[in-house]
Formats: sequence, C-alpha cells, structure tokens
Amino acid sequence: MAEQPPLIEAEDLEVRYPDGTLALYDVTFTIAAPTFMAIIGPNGSGKSTLLKTMLGLLKPTKGTLKVLGYDVTEEYKAIRHLVRYVPQRDHIEPTVPMKIKDIVLMGRLLKKPPPRFASRKDVQCARDALRRVDLVDFWNHPFSALSGGQRQRVLVARALASEGDIMILDEPLSGADHSSQTRIVEALREYYAEHQVNIIMVTHDLNPIHMVVKDVLMLNQTVMGIGHPCEIMDLELLKQVYGPMAHIVTMHGHKYCITHDSGVDHHDH
Ligand SMILES: Nc1ncnc2c1ncn2[C@@H]1O[C@H](COP(=O)(O)OP(=O)(O)OP(=O)(O)O)[C@@H](O)[C@H]1O
Ligand SMILES: [Mg+2]
Repeated sequence: MAEQPPLIEAEDLEVRYPDGTLALYDVTFTIAAPTFMAIIGPNGSGKSTLLKTMLGLLKPTKGTLKVLGYDVTEEYKAIRHLVRYVPQRDHIEPTVPMKIKDIVLMGRLLKKPPPRFASRKDVQCARDALRRVDLVDFWNHPFSALSGGQRQRVLVARALASEGDIMILDEPLSGADHSSQTRIVEALREYYAEHQVNIIMVTHDLNPIHMVVKDVLMLNQTVMGIGHPCEIMDLELLKQVYGPMAHIVTMHGHKYCITHDSGVDHHDH
C-alpha cells in the first residue's frame, strides 16, 4: 500500500491579514495521517487562522502549507473537496425556520450538483449522524427550538453525515454544557474508530478530549509544542503559553492542565 502523505505539513509558514496583523510566523511541523488531533492555544493564538489557511480562505504570506500532499495555494479546490468544516461561529441564525433534518442533510446535499434532492442514502446517513449525537428524535424539530449545546451537536452531526477524509471542527464544544460536550466527544471518538478519517479539532480546553486525541499542536502564533497529549503537558511550557496560573494535575496516570482558559467554554455565551 502506498504511504499516505502527511495530514498537515507546514514549512516556515507565515500568515498576515491584509491589515498587517501577523497571525502566524515560523510555523514548521508535520502531522502524520490518519489522526484525531487537537489544536490548542490561548485566544488570538492563530488557531482559526491556521484552519482557514488550510482551506485556502487565507493565503500564506511566506512558506508553504500542504494538506494530504495538496498545496493550499495551488490546490485548495482538491483540499476543500476532502474537507467537512464546522466553523467556529456558524452563520445559521437561530431564528432561521429550518428543521434539524434540513441542516444535517445540507452537509450532503451541498456536495451534489443541482437539483439537490435527498436520496434514501442521504436520509440514512443524516439519521445515523443524529443518532450518534443523541438527537435522532429531534428529526422534525425546528433548529431555533434547541439549546446552544444541542445546536452544536446538530452541527457536528452535519459533518458526520457528510463525506470527505478530513473533518475540521473549530471549537465544537464551545457553548455546550458538560453532557453535550461528552456526547460530541464520544460521537467523534466512535466515528474515528470506525472510519479512516482525519479529525482536526480546535479547542480551548484539552481536558475533555485528552483521552481521545492522538496528537496535539500547541500554538501561540508559532509552534509552542507538538506531541501526544501527556507529552505536551509540561509545566514550564504551559506557564509560558497560558501565564503563571497554569498548573498540571495528574489523575489515573494522565496529566491534565488547569489554565485560566479551562472551563471558559462552559460559561461563554
Ligand atoms: N479578519 C481579520 N483581520 C485582521 N486580523 C485578524 C482577522 N481575524 C483574526 N485576526 C487576528 O489574527 C490573530 C489570530 O486570530 P485567530 O482568530 O486565528 O485566533 P484564535 O486562536 O482562533 O483565537 P480564539 O481562541 O479567540 O478563537 C489575532 O490577533 C486576531 O486579532
Ligand atoms: Mg478561533
């Protein structure tokens, strides 16, 4: 079997916004595929910028970035074809009169040429995805009637129902309470175990996914650390990135970080 190219290969990457803001610099790292990985770092550390650059929505101002061997500048169309993306703030207005099934089916229909009718297989995939996040009974419910955590679960289901080798989720746990967070993490873990997909998840708080991710990339405009979740739990490194209040607790042989940011996702509205 031919060896798979790395999931992400960054070489001296720099990304600057048109207004001159330097978001990422000297970024060099490689992550092998397949993986379930986390990208962590404080606010403004360039996590969403890296995802947008991977999707060709922003151009590198220096260096190169490849996704499964495709260059983000030259071959972004091939990358977008492979990706299912859950943006940090989805543009679906909570007031939009859409049913849950419409939102989940949208993940599949948008990849089809018009006229976009849902086939039996589309419906099956959408129902299976909603079952994974425990919302299949809400099939005909309006999206606007859901809580913040339930909405996040629907958006994750839309990605699960869709197709493509790379699933990219920008803070899918944000605004979700503990039980919704657990449901999302468990659904992703199960899906990853069953399918050979790559999952890239941006998160403020590594703790809820510490046990399920294979690789962690810690950013603060540049690469601060990369490795397995326990390897990256270095106190000096955490203090450097998150400030002097950061500390590490060990539980059942695993290291968890407590930072100013931990738990922010639960309270942010
Ligand atoms: N459209 C934009 N124009 C100019 N600067 C931007 C733009 N979007 C983001 N930035 C800046 O780029 C830097 C990185 O932002 P980015 O959104 O990638 O951070 P992040 O790690 O995703 O943060 P958060 O945890 O708050 O989501 C920040 O300094 C931010 O202010
Ligand atoms: Mg972000």
